Amino acid sequence: MTGGARGIGAAVAARLARDGHAVAVLDLDERTAADTAAAITDSGGRAIGLRCDIADEAAVTAAVDQVVAILGPPAVLVNNAGLGPPAGITEMSVEQWDQLLGINLRGHFLVTRAVVGHLVATGWGRIVNVSSISALGDEGRSHYSSAKAGLLGFTKSLALELGRHGVTVNAIAPGFIVSDMTAATARRLGRDVEEHQRIAAQSIPVGRVGRPEDIAHTASYLVSPDAGFVTGQVIYVAGGPVG
Ligand code: NAI
Repeated sequence: MTGGARGIGAAVAARLARDGHAVAVLDLDERTAADTAAAITDSGGRAIGLRCDIADEAAVTAAVDQVVAILGPPAVLVNNAGLGPPAGITEMSVEQWDQLLGINLRGHFLVTRAVVGHLVATGWGRIVNVSSISALGDEGRSHYSSAKAGLLGFTKSLALELGRHGVTVNAIAPGFIVSDMTAATARRLGRDVEEHQRIAAQSIPVGRVGRPEDIAHTASYLVSPDAGFVTGQVIYVAGGPVG
């Protein structure tokens, strides 16, 4: 599980642990990853927290090796780590573009490549990629949108490639979810975080913003044995019809 220290990732990690999975919480933020893993362990689950920058190939290989050594070979991978600062096209530097794509798209490739052999070897596996409704377009965040759209192509291509090995690959595309990421957007807009959520909820058909647990429920289903005939799909978890 990448980006599992906080927000959506932490909720998914906790839920998968409750479902009976041993969870490796990989994150750039080592201390929070360790805290998240400790909270899972305290409630009777099995988890470890490890520092891993998913944009760093050597770090990814080392982290996956450590996970295998401590918890055994993985059967499930949730690619969730990401960031999404805004940058208009005329102001965006090549470094900003490369950095974002390096994490939000290339990073998921690196982690998937390091893990997938273990899934194929046992003939069973589940991969869930956390995309976004921004895949469909996001004003002022073309780099983020491109990475999230790229992740959908990655998902569908891997579903084709890995189906015969018993591995399903799906994407969850969240809408507005309460997290540090959306709080940062509120601050950028000069809004109080709760006011920002209230405004966002007005344009969401179910009348509320999403919670990290909304994504965790969906991930729980997609990695379950019951979801074996569901692959290459994008599930928009956005409180309304999207896509
Ligand atoms: P968040 O900012 O609360 O959490 C992101 C996590 O990813 C953090 O723990 C961070 O340390 C980690 N991370 C960032 N770069 C990393 C790297 N290079 N290597 C390893 N870990 C790294 O954000 P949130 O909201 O929980 O987002 C999780 C995912 O959901 C992201 O991929 C985001 O794009 C996606 N998403 C979020 C939405 C929202 O409304 N919050 C909407 C749609 C998609």
